[in-house]
Amino acid sequence: MAATKATPLRLIAVALFVTAAAAADTYTNHTVGGDAGWFFNSTTNKTSADYRSWVGNQTFNLGDYLIFNTNTNQTVIQTYNKTTYGSCITDDALDTDTFQYDGGNNDFGSAMMIAVPLTIEGTQYYFSDADDGEQCQHGMAFDIKVSHGLGLPPSLNQPPPPAYVPPPGPADQGESPPIPVVGTPSSNDGIMTTANFFVFMLLLLISLFA
Ligand SMILES: *[C@@H]1O[C@H](CO)[C@@H](O)[C@H](O)[C@H]1NC(C)=O
Ligand SMILES: *[C@@H]1O[C@H](CO)[C@@H](O)[C@H](O)[C@H]1NC(C)=O
Ligand SMILES: *[C@@H]1O[C@H](CO)[C@@H](O)[C@H](O)[C@H]1NC(C)=O
Ligand SMILES: *[C@@H]1O[C@H](CO)[C@@H](O)[C@H](O)[C@H]1NC(C)=O
Ligand SMILES: *[C@@H]1O[C@H](CO)[C@@H](O)[C@H](O)[C@H]1NC(C)=O
Ligand SMILES: *[C@@H]1O[C@H](CO)[C@@H](O)[C@H](O)[C@H]1NC(C)=O
Repeated sequence: MAATKATPLRLIAVALFVTAAAAADTYTNHTVGGDAGWFFNSTTNKTSADYRSWVGNQTFNLGDYLIFNTNTNQTVIQTYNKTTYGSCITDDALDTDTFQYDGGNNDFGSAMMIAVPLTIEGTQYYFSDADDGEQCQHGMAFDIKVSHGLGLPPSLNQPPPPAYVPPPGPADQGESPPIPVVGTPSSNDGIMTTANFFVFMLLLLISLFA
């Protein structure tokens, strides 16, 4: 009889674990600007949304995507370089820290959707460099901070860069190792969570039939 009394409690505990695992095991697609999208009106100099306040309502994690609903009158520039961000243009930008996402379409006003995966933790910057930086100067710009969350999902996880081998000889001691561009091997936590989820599901089934 004691066993049957304990069963509902056990069920609740297992259910809570399952819920927690399921809730944490998600990645979010953040539609930039919400329904208003990523647009600039060059007649009024107005952005379709206030991107900085939009950012304030979001939590960004590795493996999430930024979805830019826009058209070819705007660009999507991603940079890790605050100087480039502040300049609003990409003329002097370095290939290593600044990326342009676009549909490869040079027509004016053709609709496009750009999905940017968040693959690096920390602060990063987004802007449109169209109209020689005027769009950015008028608010087509925002920065976000990406947290670890679940880590990168396998679909976005790249093999780690080869281990750094110090150059022979004592001369180059000051040289710093290459900066890894994409996530580290430790960012496989998403897989673990999924595994845990199935373990908990199994426990739940066992409890049900116990
Ligand atoms: C998020 O966006 C990516 C890239 O477009 C897509 O592959 C994925 O299915 C989307 N996920 C959800 C939950 O909408
Ligand atoms: C820009 O704003 C003006 C004035 O509100 C409007 O007439 C025009 O249609 C807008 N242009 C675009 C491309 O949305
Ligand atoms: C838009 O901004 C540009 C400078 O960036 C300025 O020359 C122009 O007059 C502005 N137009 C309006 C409608 O404010
Ligand atoms: C942010 O969230 C608050 C409260 O949920 C809401 O009132 C506000 O409109 C939101 N702002 C944006 C830009 O979505
Ligand atoms: C940022 O980019 C500028 C060029 O816009 C470059 O001169 C500078 O070295 C970069 N900063 C870092 C920290 O890489
Ligand atoms: C795109 O830009 C062109 C040139 O500035 C303008 O004539 C057109 O109205 C814009 N279209 C949209 C949809 O914003």
